[in-house]
Amino acid sequence: MQNISLLGQVAIITGAGGGLGRSYALALADAGAAVLINDTGGALDGKGEARNAAQAVADEIIARGGRATANTDSVATPAGGEAIVAQAISDFGRLDIVVNNAGILRDRSIGKIDWDDFQSVHDVHLRGSAHISQPAFRHMRENGYGRFVFIGSNAGTFGNFGQAAYGSAKGAIMSLSGIFAIEGERHGILSNVVCPVARTRMTDSMLDDALELDPDQVSPLVVYLASRESAVTHQVFSAGGGRFSRVFTGLTEGWFAGGRPTAVSAIADHIDDILDTEQYSIPGSAADEITELIARIEGSAPRANES
Ligand code: NAI
Repeated sequence: MQNISLLGQVAIITGAGGGLGRSYALALADAGAAVLINDTGGALDGKGEARNAAQAVADEIIARGGRATANTDSVATPAGGEAIVAQAISDFGRLDIVVNNAGILRDRSIGKIDWDDFQSVHDVHLRGSAHISQPAFRHMRENGYGRFVFIGSNAGTFGNFGQAAYGSAKGAIMSLSGIFAIEGERHGILSNVVCPVARTRMTDSMLDDALELDPDQVSPLVVYLASRESAVTHQVFSAGGGRFSRVFTGLTEGWFAGGRPTAVSAIADHIDDILDTEQYSIPGSAADEITELIARIEGSAPRANES
């Protein structure tokens, strides 16, 4: 395939003052996009501000010959989201790409959940992604073109001890991206999730020192999904250490009880059939799942695996 070019396109990357966001921003700028670097520059728990974090990355991109400006609004409020989108359009005249990357950590096990922390984590990750993406979506809809890359996590896809707030926010981000994909389809707007694995200040203490896990190993997928060349939408990917994989939610062939009342003991008898993953489908929407169910009830042919 030809080189992917983002020349003439404009991207917002939230939380791009360091870590993975910085890597995405540099890669998008290297591909030709003008980039708005957003970051409040706070600590890992979101507290405090170091207002030069976003500007430092913007300066780095400009020094490499790219186009970049900085923004320090928080994604955690609707007004912040509006302001970030408005600045990108005012600085560069349009908006094509949003990478929803800003994030904080305030881990606690379930018995010790602090509800203010829980809300703050959801405000930055889940609501923050929506705060930017709603005004961006409105703008993209007018242009009939747009690309969203939401940043998820394996704590959201597969779960992780002590991450009730973070994992649930990241899980909901996958659902949010799916809705953007479904509502965006007829407007030329695509939406996907990337769940990265990389060494940053967020993960340094959790990773074996021998593992490099460079953030730059994630960025190529983000640039591809952000590009006009990609037709991929409504997907979730895992990317890290050089491995790129699809993560999906499937519906097993299951066990069909028919229209009769189902005894609890019959569930017990068939629990292995219900759980069996040999045959499954991947519905593209809630409506698709209902269509499949109706076909099953009406006795249509069994489904084949979708790859
Ligand atoms: P990081 O802490 O270096 O990056 C997060 C950035 O978001 C920081 O620069 C921070 O200042 C910024 N930020 C925090 N609150 C903000 C707000 N309200 N408004 C604007 N910016 C804000 O950590 P890392 O690892 O680069 O994380 C980037 C994203 O990737 C996060 O969403 C994280 O949850 C996700 N992630 C990272 C993984 C990894 O292996 N490093 C694994 C899975 C997900």
